[in-house]
Amino acid sequence: MKPLAKETLIVHGAHADHVTSLDLVPPIHMTATYRFNDADHGAAIFSGAAEGFVYTRIGNPTVDLFQKKMALLEGGEDAIATASGMAAIASVALPLTQPGDNIVSCATLYGGTYSLFNHHLRRMGVAPRFLRPADCRAEAQVASLIDSNTRLLYMETPANPTLDVLDIAMWAQVAKAHGLPLVVDNTFASPWLQSPLALGADIVVHSATKYIGGHGDIIGGVIVGTAEMMGRIREHHSHHFGPAMSPFNAWLFLRGVKTLALRMERHCDSAMKIARWLDAHPKVDRVHYPGLPGHPGHALAARQMKKFGGMMAFEVKGGLAGGKAVMNNLRLCILAVSLGDCETLIQHPASMTHATYTPQERAATGIAEGLVRLSVGIEDADDIIADLDAALAAA
Ligand SMILES: Cc1ncc(COP(=O)(O)O)c(C=O)c1O
Repeated sequence: MKPLAKETLIVHGAHADHVTSLDLVPPIHMTATYRFNDADHGAAIFSGAAEGFVYTRIGNPTVDLFQKKMALLEGGEDAIATASGMAAIASVALPLTQPGDNIVSCATLYGGTYSLFNHHLRRMGVAPRFLRPADCRAEAQVASLIDSNTRLLYMETPANPTLDVLDIAMWAQVAKAHGLPLVVDNTFASPWLQSPLALGADIVVHSATKYIGGHGDIIGGVIVGTAEMMGRIREHHSHHFGPAMSPFNAWLFLRGVKTLALRMERHCDSAMKIARWLDAHPKVDRVHYPGLPGHPGHALAARQMKKFGGMMAFEVKGGLAGGKAVMNNLRLCILAVSLGDCETLIQHPASMTHATYTPQERAATGIAEGLVRLSVGIEDADDIIADLDAALAAA
């Protein structure tokens, strides 16, 4: 039989494994703990000799179903759902490193990830070795930062907030040559647009808060990879540090993700239209959107992504003052951080999501002080264009 298409897996995938009733929608298992039939049954589940759940920090049927769905969509063997995207990233970085180690990462990252690496891991004796955007494109530059204390390679693509596109297959080749895992944050693309594991990455992380949930109402994260690696992360981190996802959130993620393909298609098509319009606007200096032929990562994005995504950033003439005037004059687009929601969201990275970078660090990573980031929602694209047009006129 022909394998099921990704659209079908998004809706049906993993559900059949969890048929406990005739409900169309799987139930929420809102329970902290689980009954054992008798003492021997409890001991057998605890030892792993029998299958079953013991305690929701360690495992829960609803969370398990969401994990299975995400493993399927990313093409991995197993997944771990976490309370947030940051919990997912920390749950990969902490068990794989110890004092004296280093990690090699692109420098353009979500501000929280940058801070985790640059401040918190550093405080624990793990040094981040950051590559500037231009160096991320050269295999030799990436390899030159690796030494015997390197434990993992890390990247975001497209990167938050500049929309830099990195070559996953090239980084994976470097990682493999050194026997290291490559970790890719796939939040901006979602599994609908990009499959890092198929391109050679070893671990995918997500802020599921964004496109996976899709409705701006829950926080969560996911890690996907081999069964061996997920087992290692569970044993050395998750079970004891306790970053577990709530069953209620897992249920909402299962509900939200069903429309991923439809939402992503709309986000991408609207973003393309809006990016082209902004690019031609006399008050806009520069548009960062991989779908535009002038974007430095356009050809690579066309190769490694299905479409170009719903995220973009742009620089208004007049720098920061111009950008602020636009943000303050929008009526439909909402001034808020986060992304991947049904509503179009706009924000200012230098003072908001990327305030964890110093001005010098932002300059080195191409995050202009006046850059504004737009997460294109699923509204009518012409309505968003009209809103931007009015705000640009007022700027
Ligand atoms: C690319 C990326 N990764 C990770 C995170 C962190 O995720 P969360 O906010 O769910 O902890 C974010 C948050 O904005 C993000 O944009």
